[in-house]
Amino acid sequence: MSVEKPRMQMDQLVALCKRRGFLFQSSEIYGGINGFWDYGPLGVELKRNIREAWWHDMVTSHNELVCPPGAPSPYEMVGIDAAIIMHPQVWKCSGHYDQFHDMMQSCRQCKKLFRADQVPELLRESEWVESLTQALGFSLDDRQVLVNEEALLRWLRGKGKKLAPGLSLLRELDSGGNPGVDHLAKITSQSWSPWELLAELGADSQQGVAKRVPCPECGGDLTEPREFNLMFETYVGAVRDEQNKTFLRPETAQGIFVNFKNVLDSTRVRIPFGIAQIGKSFRNEITPRYFTFRSREFEQMEIEFFCHPKTSAEWYRYWRDRRYQWYVQLGLASERLRLRDHSPEELSHYSCGTADIEYAFPFLPPGQFGELEGVAHRGDFDLRSHMEGKLVRKDGCFVVELNENGEPKYRGSGKDLTYYDDITQERYIPHVIEPSAGADRAALAFLCEAFAEDEVPDEKGQPTKRTVLRFHPRLAPIKAAVFPLVKKDGMPEIAREIYGELKRHFNVFYDEKGAIGRRYRRQDEVGTPFCITVDGQTLQDGTVTIRDRDSLRQWRVKKEDCVAELRERLGAP
Ligand code: GAP
Repeated sequence: MSVEKPRMQMDQLVALCKRRGFLFQSSEIYGGINGFWDYGPLGVELKRNIREAWWHDMVTSHNELVCPPGAPSPYEMVGIDAAIIMHPQVWKCSGHYDQFHDMMQSCRQCKKLFRADQVPELLRESEWVESLTQALGFSLDDRQVLVNEEALLRWLRGKGKKLAPGLSLLRELDSGGNPGVDHLAKITSQSWSPWELLAELGADSQQGVAKRVPCPECGGDLTEPREFNLMFETYVGAVRDEQNKTFLRPETAQGIFVNFKNVLDSTRVRIPFGIAQIGKSFRNEITPRYFTFRSREFEQMEIEFFCHPKTSAEWYRYWRDRRYQWYVQLGLASERLRLRDHSPEELSHYSCGTADIEYAFPFLPPGQFGELEGVAHRGDFDLRSHMEGKLVRKDGCFVVELNENGEPKYRGSGKDLTYYDDITQERYIPHVIEPSAGADRAALAFLCEAFAEDEVPDEKGQPTKRTVLRFHPRLAPIKAAVFPLVKKDGMPEIAREIYGELKRHFNVFYDEKGAIGRRYRRQDEVGTPFCITVDGQTLQDGTVTIRDRDSLRQWRVKKEDCVAELRERLGAP
Protein backbone atom coordinates (compact mmCIF):
# COMPACT_ATOMS: atom_id res chain seq x y z
CA MET A 1 0.00 0.00 0.00
CA SER A 2 1.38 3.41 -0.88
CA VAL A 3 1.79 6.15 1.69
CA GLU A 4 -0.34 8.62 -0.19
CA LYS A 5 -4.02 8.13 -0.83
CA PRO A 6 -5.04 9.61 -4.17
CA ARG A 7 -5.75 13.34 -3.73
CA MET A 8 -8.82 13.17 -5.97
CA GLN A 9 -10.47 10.94 -3.37
CA MET A 10 -10.69 13.90 -1.03
CA ASP A 11 -13.38 15.62 -3.13
CA GLN A 12 -15.34 12.39 -3.19
CA LEU A 13 -14.98 11.98 0.56
CA VAL A 14 -16.16 15.56 1.20
CA ALA A 15 -19.16 14.94 -1.07
CA LEU A 16 -19.93 11.66 0.70
CA CYS A 17 -19.72 13.36 4.11
CA LYS A 18 -22.38 15.82 3.07
CA ARG A 19 -24.58 13.39 1.11
CA ARG A 20 -24.72 10.80 3.90
CA GLY A 21 -24.87 13.18 6.86
CA PHE A 22 -21.39 13.09 8.37
CA LEU A 23 -20.49 16.77 8.08
CA PHE A 24 -22.19 19.96 6.98
CA GLN A 25 -20.83 23.44 6.67
CA SER A 26 -22.06 25.49 9.63
CA SER A 27 -24.96 27.88 8.87
CA GLU A 28 -24.99 26.62 5.31
CA ILE A 29 -28.39 28.09 4.44
CA TYR A 30 -26.89 31.55 5.06
CA GLY A 31 -23.86 30.85 2.89
CA GLY A 32 -21.80 29.18 5.62
CA ILE A 33 -19.23 30.58 8.03
CA ASN A 34 -15.60 29.78 7.41
CA GLY A 35 -13.90 27.47 9.90
CA PHE A 36 -17.05 26.09 11.55
CA TRP A 37 -18.60 22.68 10.89
CA ASP A 38 -21.69 20.77 11.99
CA TYR A 39 -21.72 17.01 12.46
CA GLY A 40 -24.77 15.31 10.97
CA PRO A 41 -26.51 12.16 12.25
CA LEU A 42 -23.70 9.80 11.20
CA GLY A 43 -20.85 12.23 11.92
CA VAL A 44 -22.04 12.73 15.46
CA GLU A 45 -21.96 8.96 16.04
CA LEU A 46 -18.46 8.69 14.57
CA LYS A 47 -17.10 11.49 16.76
CA ARG A 48 -18.88 10.15 19.82
CA ASN A 49 -17.32 6.72 19.19
CA ILE A 50 -13.87 8.33 18.94
CA ARG A 51 -14.41 10.24 22.18
CA GLU A 52 -15.75 7.14 23.90
CA ALA A 53 -12.90 4.94 22.67
CA TRP A 54 -10.42 7.54 23.96
CA TRP A 55 -12.16 7.94 27.33
CA HIS A 56 -12.59 4.21 27.74
CA ASP A 57 -9.02 3.32 26.75
CA MET A 58 -7.32 6.18 28.61
CA VAL A 59 -9.55 6.65 31.67
CA THR A 60 -12.33 4.24 32.63
CA SER A 61 -10.75 0.94 31.63
CA HIS A 62 -7.37 1.94 33.03
CA ASN A 63 -6.38 -0.45 35.81
CA GLU A 64 -4.52 1.62 38.37
CA LEU A 65 -3.21 -1.45 40.20
CA VAL A 66 -1.26 -2.86 37.26
CA CYS A 67 1.84 -1.49 35.57
CA PRO A 68 1.08 -1.32 31.83
CA PRO A 69 3.82 -2.45 29.42
CA GLY A 70 6.39 0.30 28.96
CA ALA A 71 5.19 2.36 31.95
CA PRO A 72 7.62 3.09 34.78
CA SER A 73 4.97 2.18 37.42
CA PRO A 74 1.22 1.73 37.92
CA TYR A 75 -0.69 5.03 37.83
CA GLU A 76 -4.15 6.50 38.28
CA MET A 77 -6.43 8.30 35.82
CA VAL A 78 -9.41 10.57 36.54
CA GLY A 79 -11.46 12.99 34.46
CA ILE A 80 -12.87 16.50 34.73
CA ASP A 81 -15.08 18.80 32.67
CA ALA A 82 -14.06 22.44 33.19
CA ALA A 83 -15.82 25.60 31.99
CA ILE A 84 -14.98 27.02 28.57
CA ILE A 85 -14.75 30.57 29.89
CA MET A 86 -12.19 30.97 32.64
CA HIS A 87 -10.72 33.83 34.66
CA PRO A 88 -8.71 36.05 32.26
CA GLN A 89 -5.67 35.73 34.53
CA VAL A 90 -5.47 32.05 33.52
CA TRP A 91 -4.53 33.08 29.98
CA LYS A 92 -2.16 35.81 31.13
CA CYS A 93 -0.20 33.40 33.34
CA SER A 94 -0.30 30.54 30.81
CA GLY A 95 1.34 32.75 28.18
CA HIS A 96 -1.60 32.65 25.75
CA TYR A 97 -2.46 36.33 26.23
CA ASP A 98 0.99 37.48 25.08
CA GLN A 99 2.24 34.61 23.00
CA PHE A 100 -0.60 32.68 21.42
CA HIS A 101 -0.38 34.22 18.01
CA ASP A 102 0.35 33.44 14.41
CA MET A 103 2.32 35.69 12.11
CA MET A 104 -0.04 37.09 9.51
CA GLN A 105 0.42 38.88 6.20
CA SER A 106 -2.20 40.66 4.18
CA CYS A 107 -2.24 41.78 0.57
CA ARG A 108 -2.25 45.54 0.02
CA GLN A 109 -4.22 45.08 -3.19
CA CYS A 110 -6.80 42.29 -2.71
CA LYS A 111 -6.80 42.60 1.14
CA LYS A 112 -6.71 38.82 1.65
CA LEU A 113 -5.14 37.51 4.86
CA PHE A 114 -2.54 34.75 4.95
CA ARG A 115 -0.64 32.92 7.65
CA ALA A 116 2.96 33.86 6.93
CA ASP A 117 4.17 30.26 7.22
CA GLN A 118 1.60 29.12 4.66
CA VAL A 119 2.53 31.59 1.95
CA PRO A 120 5.30 29.35 0.51
CA GLU A 121 2.94 26.46 0.05
CA LEU A 122 0.23 28.65 -1.45
CA LEU A 123 2.77 29.99 -3.93
CA ARG A 124 3.95 26.53 -4.96
CA GLU A 125 2.18 26.54 -8.32
CA SER A 126 2.49 30.27 -9.01
CA GLU A 127 4.18 32.04 -11.94
CA TRP A 128 6.55 33.70 -9.51
CA VAL A 129 7.84 30.34 -8.31
CA GLU A 130 8.05 29.20 -11.91
CA SER A 131 10.31 32.12 -12.84
CA LEU A 132 12.25 31.76 -9.59
CA THR A 133 12.95 28.09 -10.18
CA GLN A 134 14.01 28.80 -13.74
CA ALA A 135 16.28 31.63 -12.64
CA LEU A 136 17.85 29.48 -9.94
CA GLY A 137 18.11 26.40 -12.12
CA PHE A 138 16.03 24.21 -9.85
CA SER A 139 15.79 20.63 -10.93
CA LEU A 140 12.56 18.73 -10.24
CA ASP A 141 14.18 17.28 -7.12
CA ASP A 142 15.23 20.71 -5.97
CA ARG A 143 11.64 21.90 -6.18
CA GLN A 144 10.77 19.61 -3.29
CA VAL A 145 12.66 21.95 -0.98
CA LEU A 146 10.24 24.77 -1.70
CA VAL A 147 7.78 23.75 0.99
CA ASN A 148 10.16 22.28 3.51
CA GLU A 149 11.96 24.91 5.53
CA GLU A 150 14.81 22.71 6.73
CA ALA A 151 15.49 21.33 3.26
CA LEU A 152 15.35 24.81 1.81
CA LEU A 153 17.93 26.04 4.31
CA ARG A 154 20.19 23.12 3.41
CA TRP A 155 19.73 23.95 -0.28
CA LEU A 156 20.54 27.61 0.30
CA ARG A 157 23.72 26.71 2.14
CA GLY A 158 24.81 24.29 -0.56
CA LYS A 159 23.65 25.04 -4.11
CA GLY A 160 22.42 28.50 -3.16
CA LYS A 161 25.88 29.64 -2.11
CA LYS A 162 27.33 28.37 -5.37
CA LEU A 163 24.70 30.29 -7.35
CA ALA A 164 25.21 33.55 -5.54
CA PRO A 165 28.52 33.40 -3.74
CA GLY A 166 28.49 37.16 -3.32
CA LEU A 167 25.20 37.33 -1.46
CA SER A 168 26.24 38.38 2.02
CA LEU A 169 23.00 37.14 3.54
CA LEU A 170 23.88 33.58 2.64
CA ARG A 171 27.31 33.90 4.20
CA GLU A 172 25.74 35.31 7.34
CA LEU A 173 23.28 32.46 7.52
CA ASP A 174 26.02 30.23 8.89
CA SER A 175 28.33 32.79 10.42
CA GLY A 176 29.80 32.03 13.82
CA GLY A 177 28.77 28.38 13.46
CA ASN A 178 25.21 29.45 14.19
CA PRO A 179 23.12 28.30 11.26
CA GLY A 180 19.56 29.31 10.62
CA VAL A 181 17.18 32.17 10.08
CA ASP A 182 16.93 32.99 13.80
CA HIS A 183 20.60 33.85 13.85
CA LEU A 184 20.24 35.90 10.68
CA ALA A 185 17.34 37.78 12.23
CA LYS A 186 19.54 38.67 15.19
CA ILE A 187 22.39 40.07 13.14
CA THR A 188 20.28 41.88 10.53
CA SER A 189 17.54 42.99 12.98
CA GLN A 190 14.98 41.73 10.51
CA SER A 191 13.07 38.47 10.52
CA TRP A 192 13.78 36.40 7.42
CA SER A 193 11.84 33.50 6.15
CA PRO A 194 13.89 31.05 4.08
CA TRP A 195 11.48 31.94 1.34
CA GLU A 196 12.54 35.57 1.42
CA LEU A 197 16.14 34.46 1.28
CA LEU A 198 15.31 32.53 -1.84
CA ALA A 199 13.68 35.63 -3.32
CA GLU A 200 16.87 37.58 -2.58
CA LEU A 201 18.77 34.92 -4.43
CA GLY A 202 16.36 35.11 -7.37
CA ALA A 203 16.72 38.87 -7.53
CA ASP A 204 20.50 38.48 -7.41
CA SER A 205 20.46 36.07 -10.35
CA GLN A 206 20.84 37.28 -13.93
CA GLN A 207 17.15 36.99 -14.76
CA GLY A 208 16.31 39.35 -11.89
CA VAL A 209 13.13 37.76 -10.55
CA ALA A 210 10.88 40.12 -8.55
CA LYS A 211 12.41 40.29 -5.09
CA ARG A 212 9.21 40.70 -3.11
CA VAL A 213 7.32 37.54 -2.23
CA PRO A 214 3.99 38.19 -3.99
CA CYS A 215 0.41 37.66 -2.78
CA PRO A 216 -0.54 34.04 -3.57
CA GLU A 217 -4.01 35.21 -4.61
CA CYS A 218 -3.43 38.20 -6.92
CA GLY A 219 0.35 38.62 -7.16
CA GLY A 220 0.06 41.93 -5.27
CA ASP A 221 2.11 43.38 -2.51
CA LEU A 222 2.19 41.53 0.85
CA THR A 223 2.58 43.41 4.13
CA GLU A 224 5.35 42.50 6.57
CA PRO A 225 4.32 39.62 8.90
CA ARG A 226 2.61 40.87 12.03
CA GLU A 227 1.27 39.20 15.15
CA PHE A 228 -2.34 38.10 15.39
CA ASN A 229 -3.65 36.64 18.66
CA LEU A 230 -5.76 33.58 18.04
CA MET A 231 -7.98 33.80 21.12
CA PHE A 232 -11.63 34.76 20.64
CA GLU A 233 -12.56 37.58 23.00
CA THR A 234 -15.83 37.96 24.80
CA TYR A 235 -17.23 39.95 27.73
CA VAL A 236 -18.69 38.64 30.95
CA GLY A 237 -21.63 40.67 32.28
CA ALA A 238 -23.34 43.75 30.94
CA VAL A 239 -20.38 46.14 30.71
CA ARG A 240 -18.13 45.60 27.73
CA ASP A 241 -14.90 47.03 29.11
CA GLU A 242 -11.32 45.76 29.56
CA GLN A 243 -12.08 44.56 33.08
CA ASN A 244 -14.84 42.26 31.91
CA LYS A 245 -13.00 40.98 28.85
CA THR A 246 -12.30 37.29 28.77
CA PHE A 247 -11.66 34.59 26.21
CA LEU A 248 -13.08 31.38 24.81
CA ARG A 249 -10.49 28.77 25.82
CA PRO A 250 -7.99 27.97 23.06
CA GLU A 251 -7.13 24.65 24.76
CA THR A 252 -8.73 22.47 27.41
CA ALA A 253 -5.39 21.96 29.20
CA GLN A 254 -5.56 25.03 31.42
CA GLY A 255 -8.86 23.86 32.95
CA ILE A 256 -6.91 20.85 34.23
CA PHE A 257 -3.97 22.82 35.65
CA VAL A 258 -6.15 25.23 37.59
CA ASN A 259 -8.05 22.25 39.08
CA PHE A 260 -4.94 20.27 40.01
CA LYS A 261 -5.30 21.04 43.72
CA ASN A 262 -9.08 20.48 43.71
CA VAL A 263 -8.60 17.00 42.25
CA LEU A 264 -5.85 16.17 44.73
CA ASP A 265 -7.96 17.36 47.67
CA SER A 266 -11.20 15.70 46.59
CA THR A 267 -9.93 12.27 45.53
CA ARG A 268 -7.31 9.86 46.81
CA VAL A 269 -5.07 10.10 43.75
CA ARG A 270 -1.33 10.03 44.31
CA ILE A 271 1.42 10.90 41.92
CA PRO A 272 1.86 9.53 39.27
CA PHE A 273 -1.64 10.24 37.97
CA GLY A 274 -3.37 11.79 34.98
CA ILE A 275 -6.37 14.07 34.60
CA ALA A 276 -8.26 13.75 31.33
CA GLN A 277 -10.69 16.14 29.72
CA ILE A 278 -12.64 16.27 26.46
CA GLY A 279 -14.14 19.55 25.35
CA LYS A 280 -14.48 22.33 22.84
CA SER A 281 -11.66 24.78 22.17
CA PHE A 282 -11.72 27.88 20.02
CA ARG A 283 -9.04 29.54 17.92
CA ASN A 284 -9.57 32.39 15.53
CA GLU A 285 -7.41 30.73 12.88
CA ILE A 286 -6.28 33.10 10.13
CA THR A 287 -6.76 30.56 7.38
CA PRO A 288 -9.07 27.71 8.41
CA ARG A 289 -8.82 25.06 5.75
CA TYR A 290 -8.57 21.47 4.62
CA PHE A 291 -12.14 20.60 5.55
CA THR A 292 -12.26 20.24 9.36
CA PHE A 293 -8.47 19.96 9.75
CA ARG A 294 -8.00 23.55 10.82
CA SER A 295 -11.27 24.82 12.25
CA ARG A 296 -12.07 27.76 14.50
CA GLU A 297 -14.15 25.65 16.87
CA PHE A 298 -12.94 22.13 17.54
CA GLU A 299 -12.81 19.48 20.18
CA GLN A 300 -9.74 18.39 22.11
CA MET A 301 -9.05 15.24 24.12
CA GLU A 302 -6.26 16.13 26.52
CA ILE A 303 -4.45 14.42 29.38
CA GLU A 304 -2.22 16.21 31.84
CA PHE A 305 -0.12 13.53 33.48
CA PHE A 306 1.54 14.58 36.75
CA CYS A 307 4.73 12.79 37.78
CA HIS A 308 7.94 13.13 39.75
CA PRO A 309 10.58 15.20 37.90
CA LYS A 310 13.05 12.29 38.13
CA THR A 311 10.81 9.93 36.14
CA SER A 312 9.26 12.47 33.76
CA ALA A 313 11.50 11.59 30.81
CA GLU A 314 10.41 7.94 31.08
CA TRP A 315 6.77 8.94 31.34
CA TYR A 316 7.14 11.16 28.28
CA ARG A 317 8.38 8.22 26.23
CA TYR A 318 5.63 5.99 27.60
CA TRP A 319 2.83 8.38 26.59
CA ARG A 320 4.36 9.17 23.22
CA ASP A 321 4.49 5.49 22.26
CA ARG A 322 1.17 4.59 23.84
CA ARG A 323 -0.71 7.35 22.07
CA TYR A 324 0.84 6.39 18.72
CA GLN A 325 -0.28 2.79 19.22
CA TRP A 326 -3.83 3.93 19.98
CA TYR A 327 -4.26 5.22 16.42
CA VAL A 328 -2.70 2.08 14.96
CA GLN A 329 -5.08 -0.12 16.96
CA LEU A 330 -8.06 1.83 15.66
CA GLY A 331 -7.01 1.27 12.08
CA LEU A 332 -4.71 4.04 10.87
CA ALA A 333 -2.19 2.35 8.58
CA SER A 334 1.32 2.70 9.90
CA GLU A 335 2.63 3.77 6.47
CA ARG A 336 0.53 6.92 6.72
CA LEU A 337 1.10 7.50 10.41
CA ARG A 338 4.34 8.72 11.93
CA LEU A 339 5.77 9.81 15.24
CA ARG A 340 7.99 12.85 14.77
CA ASP A 341 10.17 14.31 17.50
CA HIS A 342 10.34 18.10 17.41
CA SER A 343 13.67 19.71 16.69
CA PRO A 344 14.88 22.08 19.47
CA GLU A 345 13.85 25.15 17.38
CA GLU A 346 10.31 23.83 17.05
CA LEU A 347 9.71 23.31 20.76
CA SER A 348 7.10 25.57 22.38
CA HIS A 349 8.28 28.09 24.92
CA TYR A 350 7.51 25.71 27.80
CA SER A 351 8.46 22.34 26.37
CA CYS A 352 11.56 20.25 27.00
CA GLY A 353 10.45 17.53 24.57
CA THR A 354 7.57 17.18 22.16
CA ALA A 355 6.60 14.61 19.58
CA ASP A 356 3.81 14.91 17.05
CA ILE A 357 1.72 12.01 15.88
CA GLU A 358 1.11 12.84 12.24
CA TYR A 359 -0.98 11.45 9.42
CA ALA A 360 -0.44 11.76 5.67
CA PHE A 361 -3.81 13.41 4.95
CA PRO A 362 -4.67 13.09 1.25
CA PHE A 363 -5.28 16.84 0.89
CA LEU A 364 -1.67 17.67 1.81
CA PRO A 365 1.05 17.90 -0.83
CA PRO A 366 2.78 14.55 -1.47
CA GLY A 367 5.21 13.65 1.30
CA GLN A 368 3.66 16.00 3.83
CA PHE A 369 2.04 14.94 7.10
CA GLY A 370 -0.46 16.84 9.29
CA GLU A 371 -0.55 16.84 13.09
CA LEU A 372 -3.09 14.59 14.79
CA GLU A 373 -1.79 14.90 18.31
CA GLY A 374 1.08 16.47 20.19
CA VAL A 375 2.71 14.75 23.15
CA ALA A 376 4.65 17.32 25.16
CA HIS A 377 6.91 17.21 28.18
CA ARG A 378 5.91 20.49 29.84
CA GLY A 379 8.12 20.23 32.92
CA ASP A 380 6.69 22.25 35.83
CA PHE A 381 5.95 25.24 33.61
CA ASP A 382 2.16 25.30 33.98
CA LEU A 383 1.79 24.64 37.68
CA ARG A 384 4.55 27.15 38.43
CA SER A 385 2.95 29.80 36.18
CA HIS A 386 -0.35 29.44 38.01
CA MET A 387 1.45 29.69 41.34
CA GLU A 388 4.01 32.41 40.70
CA GLY A 389 2.96 34.29 37.55
CA LYS A 390 3.79 34.24 33.86
CA LEU A 391 7.20 32.69 33.22
CA VAL A 392 9.79 33.54 30.60
CA ARG A 393 12.94 31.72 29.64
CA LYS A 394 16.13 33.40 30.85
CA ASP A 395 19.56 31.80 30.51
CA GLY A 396 17.98 28.40 29.92
CA CYS A 397 15.71 28.58 33.01
CA PHE A 398 12.16 29.81 33.51
CA VAL A 399 11.77 32.89 35.70
CA VAL A 400 8.78 35.10 36.48
CA GLU A 401 8.48 37.82 33.84
CA LEU A 402 8.72 41.29 35.35
CA ASN A 403 7.21 44.58 34.21
CA GLU A 404 9.05 47.90 33.97
CA ASN A 405 8.59 48.41 37.75
CA GLY A 406 10.28 45.12 38.51
CA GLU A 407 7.01 43.45 39.58
CA PRO A 408 5.54 40.24 38.10
CA LYS A 409 4.04 41.15 34.73
CA TYR A 410 1.05 38.87 35.42
CA ARG A 411 0.58 37.64 38.97
CA GLY A 412 -0.10 33.96 39.58
CA SER A 413 -2.79 32.71 41.94
CA GLY A 414 -0.36 32.61 44.87
CA LYS A 415 -1.88 29.22 45.76
CA ASP A 416 0.36 26.34 46.72
CA LEU A 417 0.30 23.92 43.77
CA THR A 418 3.13 21.75 45.05
CA TYR A 419 2.67 18.06 45.84
CA TYR A 420 3.56 16.50 49.17
CA ASP A 421 4.43 12.83 49.11
CA ASP A 422 3.60 11.60 52.61
CA ILE A 423 5.50 8.34 52.08
CA THR A 424 8.82 9.84 50.97
CA GLN A 425 8.05 13.10 52.83
CA GLU A 426 9.16 15.03 49.77
CA ARG A 427 7.51 18.24 48.53
CA TYR A 428 7.92 19.19 44.86
CA ILE A 429 6.20 20.74 41.85
CA PRO A 430 5.19 17.81 39.65
CA HIS A 431 6.31 17.59 36.05
CA VAL A 432 3.63 17.25 33.42
CA ILE A 433 3.38 15.12 30.30
CA GLU A 434 0.61 16.25 27.98
CA PRO A 435 -0.85 14.04 25.24
CA SER A 436 -3.12 16.49 23.42
CA ALA A 437 -5.33 15.11 20.66
CA GLY A 438 -7.96 16.68 18.42
CA ALA A 439 -11.23 14.76 18.14
CA ASP A 440 -12.09 16.40 14.82
CA ARG A 441 -8.65 15.73 13.34
CA ALA A 442 -8.90 12.13 14.50
CA ALA A 443 -12.37 11.85 12.90
CA LEU A 444 -11.00 13.28 9.67
CA ALA A 445 -8.02 10.92 9.66
CA PHE A 446 -10.26 7.90 10.33
CA LEU A 447 -12.58 9.03 7.52
CA CYS A 448 -9.67 9.49 5.08
CA GLU A 449 -8.16 6.14 6.03
CA ALA A 450 -11.50 4.33 5.79
CA PHE A 451 -12.48 5.71 2.38
CA ALA A 452 -11.99 3.26 -0.51
CA GLU A 453 -13.47 2.31 -3.83
CA ASP A 454 -13.50 -1.25 -5.05
CA GLU A 455 -15.51 -3.72 -7.11
CA VAL A 456 -17.87 -6.31 -5.68
CA PRO A 457 -20.11 -8.84 -7.43
CA ASP A 458 -23.77 -7.78 -7.71
CA GLU A 459 -26.75 -10.15 -7.34
CA LYS A 460 -26.01 -11.60 -10.79
CA GLY A 461 -22.32 -12.02 -10.05
CA GLN A 462 -21.35 -9.08 -12.25
CA PRO A 463 -18.60 -6.78 -10.91
CA THR A 464 -20.01 -3.49 -9.71
CA LYS A 465 -18.26 -0.45 -8.24
CA ARG A 466 -18.82 0.43 -4.64
CA THR A 467 -17.65 3.13 -2.26
CA VAL A 468 -16.86 1.84 1.18
CA LEU A 469 -15.78 3.29 4.51
CA ARG A 470 -13.68 0.61 6.17
CA PHE A 471 -14.01 1.94 9.72
CA HIS A 472 -12.73 -0.05 12.65
CA PRO A 473 -15.92 -1.62 14.11
CA ARG A 474 -15.51 0.35 17.35
CA LEU A 475 -15.70 3.60 15.38
CA ALA A 476 -18.36 2.69 12.83
CA PRO A 477 -21.43 4.95 13.35
CA ILE A 478 -23.85 2.08 12.63
CA LYS A 479 -22.75 -1.33 13.89
CA ALA A 480 -25.16 -3.47 11.88
CA ALA A 481 -28.09 -3.14 9.49
CA VAL A 482 -31.02 -5.52 9.52
CA PHE A 483 -32.86 -6.33 6.28
CA PRO A 484 -35.76 -8.57 5.33
CA LEU A 485 -34.83 -10.05 1.93
CA VAL A 486 -38.32 -9.22 0.64
CA LYS A 487 -41.23 -7.27 2.06
CA LYS A 488 -43.52 -10.30 2.44
CA ASP A 489 -43.89 -13.81 3.87
CA GLY A 490 -43.44 -12.52 7.43
CA MET A 491 -39.78 -11.57 6.84
CA PRO A 492 -40.21 -7.89 7.84
CA GLU A 493 -41.81 -8.95 11.13
CA ILE A 494 -38.85 -11.20 12.04
CA ALA A 495 -36.33 -8.57 10.89
CA ARG A 496 -38.02 -5.89 13.02
CA GLU A 497 -37.91 -8.18 16.03
CA ILE A 498 -34.16 -8.76 15.57
CA TYR A 499 -33.65 -5.03 15.06
CA GLY A 500 -35.53 -4.28 18.30
CA GLU A 501 -33.37 -6.72 20.25
CA LEU A 502 -30.09 -5.44 18.76
CA LYS A 503 -31.10 -1.80 19.26
CA ARG A 504 -30.97 -2.32 23.03
CA HIS A 505 -27.21 -2.96 22.73
CA PHE A 506 -25.88 -1.27 19.59
CA ASN A 507 -26.64 1.51 17.14
CA VAL A 508 -28.31 -0.52 14.38
CA PHE A 509 -30.35 0.37 11.31
CA TYR A 510 -33.42 -1.19 9.72
CA ASP A 511 -34.00 -1.06 5.96
CA GLU A 512 -36.57 -2.85 3.81
CA LYS A 513 -36.56 -0.52 0.78
CA GLY A 514 -35.09 -1.46 -2.60
CA ALA A 515 -33.02 -4.35 -3.95
CA ILE A 516 -30.88 -6.14 -1.37
CA GLY A 517 -27.67 -5.30 -3.31
CA ARG A 518 -28.45 -1.60 -3.16
CA ARG A 519 -29.18 -1.84 0.57
CA TYR A 520 -25.77 -3.48 1.11
CA ARG A 521 -24.09 -0.75 -0.94
CA ARG A 522 -25.74 2.02 1.08
CA GLN A 523 -24.43 0.50 4.30
CA ASP A 524 -20.94 -0.06 2.84
CA GLU A 525 -20.82 3.63 1.96
CA VAL A 526 -21.31 4.67 5.59
CA GLY A 527 -19.02 1.98 7.01
CA THR A 528 -21.52 -0.42 8.64
CA PRO A 529 -19.41 -3.52 9.38
CA PHE A 530 -22.24 -6.11 9.32
CA CYS A 531 -25.55 -6.60 7.53
CA ILE A 532 -28.03 -9.17 8.84
CA THR A 533 -30.58 -10.54 6.38
CA VAL A 534 -33.76 -12.45 7.09
CA ASP A 535 -34.47 -14.72 4.10
CA GLY A 536 -36.42 -17.80 3.08
CA GLN A 537 -34.27 -20.13 5.15
CA THR A 538 -34.98 -18.03 8.27
CA LEU A 539 -38.64 -19.08 7.94
CA GLN A 540 -37.58 -22.72 7.97
CA ASP A 541 -34.73 -22.98 10.47
CA GLY A 542 -34.65 -19.63 12.33
CA THR A 543 -31.17 -18.68 11.08
CA VAL A 544 -30.16 -15.38 9.40
CA THR A 545 -27.19 -14.48 7.19
CA ILE A 546 -24.55 -12.08 8.42
CA ARG A 547 -22.43 -10.36 5.76
CA ASP A 548 -19.02 -8.86 6.49
CA ARG A 549 -18.46 -5.43 4.87
CA ASP A 550 -14.78 -6.01 4.05
CA SER A 551 -14.43 -9.69 3.17
CA LEU A 552 -18.02 -9.94 1.83
CA ARG A 553 -18.11 -13.32 3.52
CA GLN A 554 -21.59 -14.50 4.56
CA TRP A 555 -22.44 -17.00 7.26
CA ARG A 556 -25.54 -18.08 9.13
CA VAL A 557 -26.34 -17.78 12.82
CA LYS A 558 -29.47 -18.46 14.86
CA LYS A 559 -31.53 -15.29 15.02
CA GLU A 560 -31.45 -15.28 18.82
CA ASP A 561 -27.61 -15.39 18.75
CA CYS A 562 -27.25 -12.10 16.81
CA VAL A 563 -26.45 -9.99 19.89
CA ALA A 564 -23.69 -12.34 21.09
CA GLU A 565 -22.30 -12.73 17.55
CA LEU A 566 -22.12 -8.97 17.02
CA ARG A 567 -20.66 -8.33 20.45
CA GLU A 568 -17.81 -10.71 19.71
CA ARG A 569 -17.16 -9.44 16.20
CA LEU A 570 -17.35 -5.75 17.09
CA GLY A 571 -14.72 -6.22 19.76
CA ALA A 572 -17.03 -4.09 21.91
CA PRO A 573 -15.26 -3.22 25.16
N1 GAP B 1 -2.63 21.91 25.06
C1 GAP B 1 -1.74 21.79 23.97
C2 GAP B 1 -2.38 22.08 22.69
O1 GAP B 1 -3.49 22.59 22.62
P1 GAP B 1 -2.00 22.00 20.11
O2 GAP B 1 -0.94 21.27 19.32
O3 GAP B 1 -2.16 23.44 19.86
O4 GAP B 1 -1.63 21.72 21.63
C3 GAP B 1 -3.53 19.91 20.20
O5 GAP B 1 -3.38 21.27 19.90
C4 GAP B 1 -4.38 19.22 19.15
O6 GAP B 1 -5.61 19.92 18.98
C5 GAP B 1 -3.74 19.20 17.75
O7 GAP B 1 -2.83 18.15 17.61
C6 GAP B 1 -4.96 19.03 16.87
O8 GAP B 1 -5.35 17.67 16.82
C7 GAP B 1 -6.03 19.81 17.63
N2 GAP B 1 -6.15 21.16 17.03
C8 GAP B 1 -5.41 22.24 17.30
N3 GAP B 1 -5.82 23.29 16.57
C9 GAP B 1 -6.86 22.86 15.82
C10 GAP B 1 -7.72 23.47 14.85
N4 GAP B 1 -7.61 24.74 14.54
N5 GAP B 1 -8.67 22.71 14.26
C11 GAP B 1 -8.82 21.40 14.59
N6 GAP B 1 -8.03 20.78 15.49
C12 GAP B 1 -7.07 21.48 16.11
